[in-house]
Amino acid sequence: MTYETILTEVHGEGERGRVGLITLNRPKALNAINRQLTEEVLAAAQAFDADPSIGAIVITGSEKAFAAGADIKEMQPQGYIDMYLADWFGAWERLPAVRKPVIAAVAGFALGGGCELAMMADFIIAADTAKFGQPEIKLGVIPGMGGSQRLTRLIGRAKAMELVLTGRFIDAQEAERAGLVARVVPAAELLDDALKTAKTIAFHSLPVTLIAKEAVNRASETTLEEGLRFERRVFHSLFALEDQKEGMTAFIEKRAPAFKDR
Ligand code: CAA
Repeated sequence: MTYETILTEVHGEGERGRVGLITLNRPKALNAINRQLTEEVLAAAQAFDADPSIGAIVITGSEKAFAAGADIKEMQPQGYIDMYLADWFGAWERLPAVRKPVIAAVAGFALGGGCELAMMADFIIAADTAKFGQPEIKLGVIPGMGGSQRLTRLIGRAKAMELVLTGRFIDAQEAERAGLVARVVPAAELLDDALKTAKTIAFHSLPVTLIAKEAVNRASETTLEEGLRFERRVFHSLFALEDQKEGMTAFIEKRAPAFKDR
């Protein structure tokens, strides 16, 4: 498939450790998220998810902007019935449903829908130039791609409330202190760092990685008791895999494991 608002590449040679990279590419609009970009990001992410040679996915933007939000020019003329019947932003449910790990590599502005897209990833690596915010309130609306929900779960009610009600931007350091981002790196190293991190993940056993992602996500979906029971049951089930024998045998034999995704 050819895309007009994103670039896609596969990084890594050989059978393991391959990473699918999606680069948002509407530079004139600071990667504002319109309907076309939405469909293209989702199609690319789902294609990488379905490709057995890919172990992890990275989504990034430009030096200036990861994404400056949903496309205000596209939304401005819409009415309630247009938004409701199109279920505007509803398609984004397909991104968190991707089973392989997704890393957002964020430099520059990640505002509104840009911040919300980054939060749909499994974790965010931020450049020291990154700026996060939910400025929708200044446009006479509220976040619509998960900001009021995911930001609150990630950084807590007080800080999420302050950001959503004021539209204030936070820098990468504040985002890291708040728990929004996993790590901050120098801007020049952002993409290399994110790809290296994704390759590390992609070298592990794919089924174990998928289960690990599912288990961590359970923590925000259920009670501690149910979550712990889920974790224990899937932990037990991993002993049916050849990769468990390989991983533990390799440790004992002091060699690198050769996982087979079995
Ligand atoms: N939608 C559409 N176009 C956008 C855009 C957006 N979200 N953000 C920037 N652009 C466009 C600008 O209109 C401008 O285009 P023109 O050259 O044609 O005028 C171009 O990108 C460059 O932007 P600026 O000239 O404004 O660049 P700047 O460096 O002076 O400012 C900025 C950068 C602070 C990010 C500023 O562009 C800005 O405030 N953008 C809007 C941020 C915002 O409000 N985002 C929330 C959108 S609503 C939303 O996301 C809803 C939701 O919950 C999903």
